[in-house]
Amino acid sequence: MKPLEQTPEYQALAASRSAIEAQSISALFADDPARFDEFSIDIDGLLLDYSKQPLTRDLRDQLLALAVARDVEGKRDAMLAGEAINASEGRSVLHTALRVPDGNDGWAGRAIAREVEQTRKAMLALAEAIRSGERTGATGKPIRHVINIGIGGSDLGPRLVLEALSPLADGPQVHFLANVDGVELEQAMAVCDPEATLVLVVSKSFGTVETMANAHEVMAWLRRRVPSDAVLEQQVLAITSNLDRVRELGLDPALALPMWDWVGGRYSLWSAVGFAILLGIGGQAFTALLAGAHAMDRHFAEAPLARNMPVMMALCAVLNGTVLGRRSQAVVPYTERLGKLSAYLQQLVMESNGKSVSVDGEPIAHPTSPVIWGQTGTPGQHAFFQALHQGSDVVPVDFIGVARAVAGEKGDPLELTANLFAQSQALMQGRHGEHLPAARLCPGNRPSNTLLLDALTPERLGALIALYEHRTFVEAAIWGINAFDQFGVELGKGLAADLKPLIADGSGLETVDASTAGLISRYRAWRRR
Ligand code: F6P
Repeated sequence: MKPLEQTPEYQALAASRSAIEAQSISALFADDPARFDEFSIDIDGLLLDYSKQPLTRDLRDQLLALAVARDVEGKRDAMLAGEAINASEGRSVLHTALRVPDGNDGWAGRAIAREVEQTRKAMLALAEAIRSGERTGATGKPIRHVINIGIGGSDLGPRLVLEALSPLADGPQVHFLANVDGVELEQAMAVCDPEATLVLVVSKSFGTVETMANAHEVMAWLRRRVPSDAVLEQQVLAITSNLDRVRELGLDPALALPMWDWVGGRYSLWSAVGFAILLGIGGQAFTALLAGAHAMDRHFAEAPLARNMPVMMALCAVLNGTVLGRRSQAVVPYTERLGKLSAYLQQLVMESNGKSVSVDGEPIAHPTSPVIWGQTGTPGQHAFFQALHQGSDVVPVDFIGVARAVAGEKGDPLELTANLFAQSQALMQGRHGEHLPAARLCPGNRPSNTLLLDALTPERLGALIALYEHRTFVEAAIWGINAFDQFGVELGKGLAADLKPLIADGSGLETVDASTAGLISRYRAWRRR
């Protein structure tokens, strides 16, 4: 595919950069009373308001022409049909197949749908047996705790979903163990009754060093504390696409829950990677989560580009991040239940699109993924909103709000919502006036989207996460990059393995750079104190 910057559609956008930056967003409302309706998309209790973006109708048409020129629809249809679009790994990309309802063949066909359905039924049955107390620990105690051992996509999605849907949690308490610093390990061991604890070892590769190290620690803890030879078989469950390595850990592959290589780690919470979710909130809520994502899949597959929520979000992101060079993007949900959303999106977006080589292996000559960051509102207003309003950088913001409480949240919805709406308004209109000293002026004209959910239900959460998955895909399609490999993470892992012996015994420091040698020396000296 032709490099983006060589397309006439992109060149026209780049040539308009100054005009776009000078465009008053507030003035667009003054000129067009129907702007909110025209620049918002509403599906099933999820509203995207992108009217506070610097888009005239002509500019939107230019962006849509870019999406057509980059064959977004063709690439989308190829993904949904199961073509090997992850070209560098020769794999399909079929996280959408994981949320096709039972009995429906989905886009990738009957064989895939039946295999997914079969695994999902096994997951649902196993989860129900555990939640009901029918399936116990090795000494007969019902399972009251789950330790999910995993990292990245084997951790962030389940953490996000279980926190977001915590009012629905009616199963075992789920503890997450990702890092190798021992903190979460100690915390879990301190509260979990080993005889009532199920351990999930979640790793698509079943080779991630942190996950394997934690698995060994927790399995040793179980063996020490549970008086039964069947403890591993009964209380440790492998979740992976690499069944060969399960045996190396001392587990029975036949008892493992499978994943597939056509599900990327950061797109996998809908698979057996989400088993902790299923244990925590039950089959009905998990199925509703899938249904919400499937509704977004259908919208993405069928809506015309101009009314397509992931497409319009992606076009606004490409406009801000690539055409206008705005290199970070904030995500600010106005509910603590989505407190883990920005961490989840950091992996989803930055591990997918943090690339600088095209699918054809050519260097990319323009910016790709922005830095994704954020915190909930209103606390973010007391942390970084000063920079958003008066800082030197224009940072596009995705605001996320929820209209109705799901379960008994007290708080002050009026205060929360007024702040949510006021912040995007303030970023747009700024504060001006000759009478004001310069230090009190806010430039305004700072773009934002607002995503409003009617309620934070499993369906809406599923749709919201799928929306960001598809936005990420569309951005990659426009840039011409592969969103589904992640070779960049291998270098650091390899160097870490090389450094371990130098740190352990202090030898070989002459083989590394002086900074690394100096750090190792000081670390070793302070460790000995
Ligand atoms: O960060 C690299 C990565 O491979 C992610 O893509 C993945 O989600 C994570 O590590 C964990 O990988 P695994 O599930 O294979 O343990």
